[in-house]
Amino acid sequence: MSYDQKVPPLSTEKLNFYKPQRLIPYSSTPGFIQDFNFPTRPLKYLDTLNRRYGDCFLIGGKKSPLVCLSNPKAIEAVFTADPELFDVASGHEYLQFILRENSILRHDGASHKRIRKLLTPAYQSMYHQYTYGQLIYDVTRQLTAQWRVGQPFLVNSSMREISLQVILRILFGLDEVERLNQFQSQFMAMINSVDFAIDSFDFWSYIPESLGQKIRQKMGVLSPWEQFSEQLQKTDQLILDEIQERRKQGNVHGKDVLTLLMSIRDDVGQTIMTEQELRDALMDIIVGAQALPLSLTWVLYWIHHSPEIHYKLRCELESIGELFNPQKICQLPYFNAICQESFRIYPVNNIFLRKLKAPLEIMGHHFEAGTILMPCEYLTHRREDLYPEPNCFKPERFLERKFSRYEYFPFGGGHRSCMGMLFVKTQIKLVIATILSHFQLAIINRDPVRPIHRGLFSLGSPSDLWMVCN
Ligand code: HEM
Repeated sequence: MSYDQKVPPLSTEKLNFYKPQRLIPYSSTPGFIQDFNFPTRPLKYLDTLNRRYGDCFLIGGKKSPLVCLSNPKAIEAVFTADPELFDVASGHEYLQFILRENSILRHDGASHKRIRKLLTPAYQSMYHQYTYGQLIYDVTRQLTAQWRVGQPFLVNSSMREISLQVILRILFGLDEVERLNQFQSQFMAMINSVDFAIDSFDFWSYIPESLGQKIRQKMGVLSPWEQFSEQLQKTDQLILDEIQERRKQGNVHGKDVLTLLMSIRDDVGQTIMTEQELRDALMDIIVGAQALPLSLTWVLYWIHHSPEIHYKLRCELESIGELFNPQKICQLPYFNAICQESFRIYPVNNIFLRKLKAPLEIMGHHFEAGTILMPCEYLTHRREDLYPEPNCFKPERFLERKFSRYEYFPFGGGHRSCMGMLFVKTQIKLVIATILSHFQLAIINRDPVRPIHRGLFSLGSPSDLWMVCN
């Protein structure tokens, strides 16, 4: 397919500070305004620049320019390039407040490859429909039992509770109710505090550190980041206690992910993951899983947004009979198309960052080492030539044609693709199918749900979705 876009004449302002062979369109908006626009209204801003400059342009102030790419040929060039060309880890440094040095996201090259290989069996164990299908069903039933006819509830919070409990039980087992509640409340406190710290206007950062500390001491309050750090410490301690307890008992706990990670052995039969490595691997999964409630909320929204889509999906679900059958649910074509379309229209990630360690040629542009490439899922997924009426939610498009992995990539691509993808797809379908088979829901929002800047996955979070059971 040809991806040539009609691009308006280039801006007279051209980038010349790293000498690309062919000049790349560059917004003439002053850098400091761009530095404000991109973080504060990212998707609208990307749309505006895309309309003005096409599918390859520079974004950001002169201090940290990013090359935004949304042509599938350019995406292919990035995803199929030699992994050694990229520094990906530095793009994740901003997450170091929660993801420590052993996190896979903070590694490149040989160490990234080693960690990925080591952890693959643990990730694979997580999406086994037979093992975890019933667990996902039970958790969803239990946590939705409190929904009452006529009483509105905030879908975002319910989905967060369900996703957290599922992931905790898959990671740690946690068959005892008391222990499960302890984990659930501690992890929830940590997640809420990190979102609060990220979202809060950081009043304290405008006050000199020593003065701020004195004021806080006098008032007896902690800053949002201090509150998060306290919660993180408690969470780390809970994880480390669990690991130590299991080590004492000879790690015979069960089939959960932690048991699996703790039983990894090197060639001479020694345990190879240290306590810190185990903690960091678990935290990667916990952080990744924070994208799940966002996707669940989006999917529920789109299903109930259109009576026709809702009706078609119900008929498809009913066609497999009364009994909960995870395998059949996961294979339903229309349900699958709804999930795909939901990931297309509002992806959770939206962009990736790839810093070049050596020069690279992409579609006639020569990029020097040091350039930060930004493959943009959001803009690729909104190309008119691929997705006619891109702003409309149309699951049928995924039944009518197959998109290549460079035209549609909600879970990334190349050597850094999402390790939780199959788990995510399974969980979304099973949670939603369980809800639809027990409730008739309706949206009661006055305004449409839209992506907002919030929390850890700050580009693709849905605004509040309120629903009611009829
Ligand atoms: C809606 C849910 C999710 C979406 C849309 C999603 C999407 C993505 C994307 C796009 C990437 C690539 C980022 C990049 O190339 O820079 C990625 C990486 C990753 N994801 Fe997910 N993810 C989701 C949930 C999860 C979950 C639940 C887990 C854990 C079970 C997970 C584990 C990972 C890991 C470990 C990586 C890094 C892989 C690497 O660097 O080699 N993700 N994810």
